Amino acid sequence: MNHEFLDLGLQPLANKYLTKTNNSNNSKQYYRLKVGFNKKTKLVSLLKKIPDKKMFDSTYPYKSSMSKTMINSFKKLSIEIKKRFKPKMFLEIGSNDGVLIRNFDRNKVICVEPCSNLAKMTKKKGYTTFNDYWNLNLAKKIKKKFNQVDVIYSANTLTHINNLNDVFNSISFLLNKNGVLIIEDPSFLECIKKVSYDQFYNEHIYVFSAIAVKNIINKFNLELFDIEPLPTHGGSLRYYIKHKDNKNIKIKKSVSFQISKEMKFGLQKFSTYVKFGKAVENSRKKLIKIFIDLKNKKQKIIGYGATAKACTVLNYCNLDNKIIDYFIDTTPDKQNKFMPGKNIKIMKYSKKLLNNANYIYLGAWNFKNEIFNKEKKFIKNGGKFITHVPFPKII
Ligand code: TMP
Repeated sequence: MNHEFLDLGLQPLANKYLTKTNNSNNSKQYYRLKVGFNKKTKLVSLLKKIPDKKMFDSTYPYKSSMSKTMINSFKKLSIEIKKRFKPKMFLEIGSNDGVLIRNFDRNKVICVEPCSNLAKMTKKKGYTTFNDYWNLNLAKKIKKKFNQVDVIYSANTLTHINNLNDVFNSISFLLNKNGVLIIEDPSFLECIKKVSYDQFYNEHIYVFSAIAVKNIINKFNLELFDIEPLPTHGGSLRYYIKHKDNKNIKIKKSVSFQISKEMKFGLQKFSTYVKFGKAVENSRKKLIKIFIDLKNKKQKIIGYGATAKACTVLNYCNLDNKIIDYFIDTTPDKQNKFMPGKNIKIMKYSKKLLNNANYIYLGAWNFKNEIFNKEKKFIKNGGKFITHVPFPKII
């Protein structure tokens, strides 16, 4: 049973960038974004779940290799995986445009990717790719062809799949008895500390804490043996998981360290989540005030990074094209389209469009360091950024 602690209002589907402005108030295009806490499993999830097929199709615009931060992080990881686990067969669930698997030998990799535009990219490069959703049927099909696999990896994908029991059951089925599952996803502890409520949108059905992961995988005879904090996506955790029967791998202290950190913060208690809900409401009021004050002073504001996260913020705080003139973004599939729900145009990134503005709302706040590095000149010339993380402010 899920207990609601956050209501982010009516929201359109994020990552569904519109090709023309949409002024209709057709309520069918919106869903109510409410978030709840399961007191038994300690899992945080959306109360209304959108069917996979509506979200992950042939037009999915998100490409992992659009950022240098991600390219470098995946390259480093591939070296570590090869050194530490020496997989003969490696499977990635949600292989996206192949940013990680391109660091592995073609004959040692299996890609699973439901978005056909992305699956095509890895297929074209000669990698075995299943253009399908991750579930037990697919795991059975893969087992028939390749037998079991040694390492299964999935970043920012399992939290997007509705039926988590099926997800872990299928993994447990396909993973070699000495095999390792590595997953990474945004950390709820970081989300709550940073009041980054924009981690919630239709695709992020779950936001994991280590406490919740431990409880869910336990049902499938799996256990955590290492946890690494990561800077990606505003603070993530990389979980290393094995079969409980495999006693060859020792459980590292990092597991109890992370869990006790979360317990100290109160992530096992519903009252902590209720407090977070109130912090989110305050964050909204403060952010709106910053925008209104700047607009009253006739300042030109644009957005940087047309992220799915920004979609949640714009719709929750009711920030439209009267407040933010346009967004700039380097992703070709987003350019010349509009932010869902708020009709703000997304333009191809250029220095000229950047310099036209007085203030820049940081939609991709999770890439703040990379962006600030790139825009040193703009900052030196007095350009300012607006962010809502960890609290609404002008930088
Ligand atoms: P994400 O936060 O969902 O990973 O998306 C990041 C978005 O920000 C993606 O559309 C690319 C965009 N972006 C830029 O436009 N310029 C940049 O320098 C960076 C790092 C990201």
